[in-house]
Amino acid sequence: MDLVAVVATALWAMLPAYLPNNVAVVAGGGRPIDGGYTLGGDRLLGDGKTWRGTAAGTLAGGLLGLALDQLAGSVASAIGIPLPGFPIAAVIGLPVGAMGGDLAASFLKRRTGRARGAAAPGLDQLDFVLGALLVSAVVAPGWFAGTFTPPVLLAVLVITPLLHVGTNAIAYLLGIKNEPW
Ligand code: CTP
Ligand code: MG
Repeated sequence: MDLVAVVATALWAMLPAYLPNNVAVVAGGGRPIDGGYTLGGDRLLGDGKTWRGTAAGTLAGGLLGLALDQLAGSVASAIGIPLPGFPIAAVIGLPVGAMGGDLAASFLKRRTGRARGAAAPGLDQLDFVLGALLVSAVVAPGWFAGTFTPPVLLAVLVITPLLHVGTNAIAYLLGIKNEPW
């Protein structure tokens, strides 16, 4: 696989994991998942992790996965690069893992005394990627192994933080997000 194909595969395969966190920012609000509960004086997750944002984000990622699965063949022939489809386990695993990784990072941030919205460099950029990769590897191992070959995996880990920083900066400038990270 040449570099362009590696990058195209990485972006394509991760789209259902990229969308959820962005949709959560736009759709979020309402009741926090942790119901206000605290652990050792700090919130379990905080007001930034809501039922509405999490549900909307997960659903959006899943629907995108279904759509991409239908489009894989025609997009692949249009750009001349083979692209993976999305078995139902991956359609569910990628967005669930992405949102789960983000929740897990919030949990860790609260345990380390960081208030809602505080930056955790590294964690903020990779939590949803690691969650999506981990969950999809568990629920769709064959698809994962065939799709995320070592070069594709490396591309995902390099490109995602850059994309995350870029999209969050744009969302901040547009006034959609409270912090630029
Ligand atoms: N959001 C949500 N539910 C989620 C994730 C995000 O409702 N599962 C919404 C919230 O309004 C949140 C905003 O998207 O404030 C930005 O998301 P994020 O940066 O992940 O949350 P933070 O507010 O920074 O909270 P934390 O410090 O816990 O990451
Ligand atoms: Mg944040």
